[in-house]
Amino acid sequence: MPGLIERYRDRLPFAPDDPVVSLQEGSTPLVPAPTLSERVGAEVFLKVEGANPTGSFKDRGMTCAVSDAVRNGAEAVICASTGNTAASLAAYAARAGLRGAVIVPEGKIATGKLAQALMHGARVIALRGNFDVALQLVRELCARQPIALVNSVNPFRLEGQKTAAFELLDELDPIHPLDALCIPVGNAGNITAYWKGFQEAGAAPRLYGFQAAGAAPLVHGAPVEQPETIASAIRIGNPARWEEAMAAVTGSRGAIQAVTDDEILDAYRLLASREGVFCEPASAASVAGLLKHGAGDARRVVCVLTGHGLKDPQTALMQAGSVVPCEPDLGAVEQAVLG
Ligand code: F0G
Repeated sequence: MPGLIERYRDRLPFAPDDPVVSLQEGSTPLVPAPTLSERVGAEVFLKVEGANPTGSFKDRGMTCAVSDAVRNGAEAVICASTGNTAASLAAYAARAGLRGAVIVPEGKIATGKLAQALMHGARVIALRGNFDVALQLVRELCARQPIALVNSVNPFRLEGQKTAAFELLDELDPIHPLDALCIPVGNAGNITAYWKGFQEAGAAPRLYGFQAAGAAPLVHGAPVEQPETIASAIRIGNPARWEEAMAAVTGSRGAIQAVTDDEILDAYRLLASREGVFCEPASAASVAGLLKHGAGDARRVVCVLTGHGLKDPQTALMQAGSVVPCEPDLGAVEQAVLG
């Protein structure tokens, strides 16, 4: 499959001659989830966004934001990030030959994401403050310096991310309409982008957004000063796309609800051990929400798994069983294997 801009150029703001920076993102698998389907009494699918080139849905937005930056003659791109946007920016900047800088909350991003951003050669700045502070500072910096901001406040990010909605409709709707979409919410760019995509395609599944209970400003209706959750990707207390996310939920007759860290981790382990799909903790919030609140009258549901499980090996090892030590002789191996 070609990259997103090539695949959906007629629905994206790019002309045929515009430069395209792509890593063949998008066209991710839509995997049926039999265990979840049985538990909630509806047909459940997983949109596996971890299959994107850098392991998260951010690549959909980044191909558009970085292509636009190149079109505008930018030399450097920057973002604030809980990790995945940083990894994606770093990869696309490397591909485009741009300088990349990322500002991340110190000690609060998953190891894999940090490794990616560094390997791709971005300047990684560890801020002694949370994501919300980082975003505020980076916005102010970009008002002073000629650096392109590629957070989801950049409209090209949403343009790229809306293509996930197109893919879902292309695959599912010809057979039976999609009734509901479950999605984790952090800075609220992705839920906004899905709604834009669905609306442009004339579809309106219910959007159910899930925030971590310790970082649930949209549920409380007020910013959270000190957001906390094991799902570091969505540890955000003041989403930039607040109004748009609420409009998406109201317009689709859906809801924004909270799930606890325990519920997130239960779903995280269930997905890996029963469905065979390893996502990162933030992604499992979509499934945790579905399990907690049920499918309602929906017959066909998609849960968006936003990032790959390998992004965050530390949380995985804390949640998983332990290895079995063994002496190098057949008897010991036999015993170790058979338990
Ligand atoms: N899931 C994952 C794995 C994420 O990395 C993010 C956001 C979200 C869900 C929420 O998406 O912000 O559009 O509501 N990560 C951003 C980052 C904030 O910096 O990587 P959202």
